[in-house]
Amino acid sequence: MDLKLTEEQEMVRNSVREFAENEIAPLAREYDEEEKFPKAQLEGLAEMGLLGMIIPEEYGGTGFDSVSYSLALEEIARADASVAVIVGVTNSVCCYPILCFGTEEQKQKFLVPLAKGEELGAFCLSEPHAGSDATNLKTRAVLDGDGYVINGTKSWVTNGGESNTHIVIAVTGEDKGKKEVTAFIVEKEREGLGVSSVEHKLGQRASKTTEMSFVDVRVPKENVLGDPGQGLKVAFNSLDNGRIGIGSLAVGIAQAAYEEALAYSKDRVAFGKPISEHQAIKFKLADMATEIEAARLLTLKAAASKDADHKKTGVRASMAKLYASEMANRVCAEAIQIHGGNGYSREYNVEKYYRDARITTIYEGTSEIQKIVISRGILKG
Ligand code: CAA
Repeated sequence: MDLKLTEEQEMVRNSVREFAENEIAPLAREYDEEEKFPKAQLEGLAEMGLLGMIIPEEYGGTGFDSVSYSLALEEIARADASVAVIVGVTNSVCCYPILCFGTEEQKQKFLVPLAKGEELGAFCLSEPHAGSDATNLKTRAVLDGDGYVINGTKSWVTNGGESNTHIVIAVTGEDKGKKEVTAFIVEKEREGLGVSSVEHKLGQRASKTTEMSFVDVRVPKENVLGDPGQGLKVAFNSLDNGRIGIGSLAVGIAQAAYEEALAYSKDRVAFGKPISEHQAIKFKLADMATEIEAARLLTLKAAASKDADHKKTGVRASMAKLYASEMANRVCAEAIQIHGGNGYSREYNVEKYYRDARITTIYEGTSEIQKIVISRGILKG
């Protein structure tokens, strides 16, 4: 088993780290405070090809493997998790399903501008009453002549209002009590599509999260993604991929919190010596470093196994997302504890990491949902 990164993977990690440290991290606090969407940072990332990382070059992407994708997202999140979630969502749950399920025409029309970073993507699955219970959808798309008419409300849409292209999952029929669900590509300009509200969140505040309303939104049949009735497959296949991204993002947040706690512990003196010399703090640092390394390995393993065989992604991606997100919450809480009262102040970054980490056990499937996916996989054998 080779745990060594390739030269190309090392290069991706180093170049993204350099950009993130210089262009993203210095602005992260200001953008968080002001809930300001990080347009300039995204332009820089687009120039580096990071908005179409896992998309082949023939469709405008960079053609990274999933390991490089994971390394890049970790580095972006180490600087600012808000920027990382924007990048993760457009890559993994918008570009990727078009790559997997799109026709050649759809790839040329929608994927190329997304992968080049000229446009941004979003994923519309959740609804006000259907989060974890994702198949219980009310949004309907009714066949009408040469197209479909979509009506409904989608919630928790990352990039909502900033996105040009939306993957929308809607009910198109019912057969013997079972809903037929279909995926659509819906452009921003479609009449009847709008942002109905913007969320004001605890963390990742520079990323935009909205509710979106669909009122008689007409799309042509050419905008159906995959076959009619394949919508849940499109959605869950995309989320398998997305969960590797969230695992990587959680590792990045934890790494940032750990680094700040380590530096602070060497600087802060109590009882006549730096607090890093007290066993209570040493042991915290040891636990934090160990847990981060474990989560990183689990996440990279999920990414590597996706590269080897996509069908094996589901359980591994859920394990990575489950462990990394829970770990990030523990590590960020300890980073605050090491900072003492200062950790609770906005003067220091650790309170931001703590807030940013909180959502990682919830979005793209809660920890409880990951346990359902993992246990089903284990029991199926
Ligand atoms: N790949 C492909 N297809 C899959 C699949 C996968 N990994 N998992 C399930 N499917 C298919 C099934 O084969 C099934 O197809 P058929 O109906 O043709 O048989 C269909 O999808 C439904 O699957 P289940 O019967 O397993 O569905 P379920 O109702 O039991 O739900 C669940 C399973 C795991 C609980 C699922 O609902 C789930 O993952 N819920 C969480 C949803 C989630 O992660 N939401 C986050 C939204 S995105 C977000 O957070 C916002 C953002 O922008 C970041």
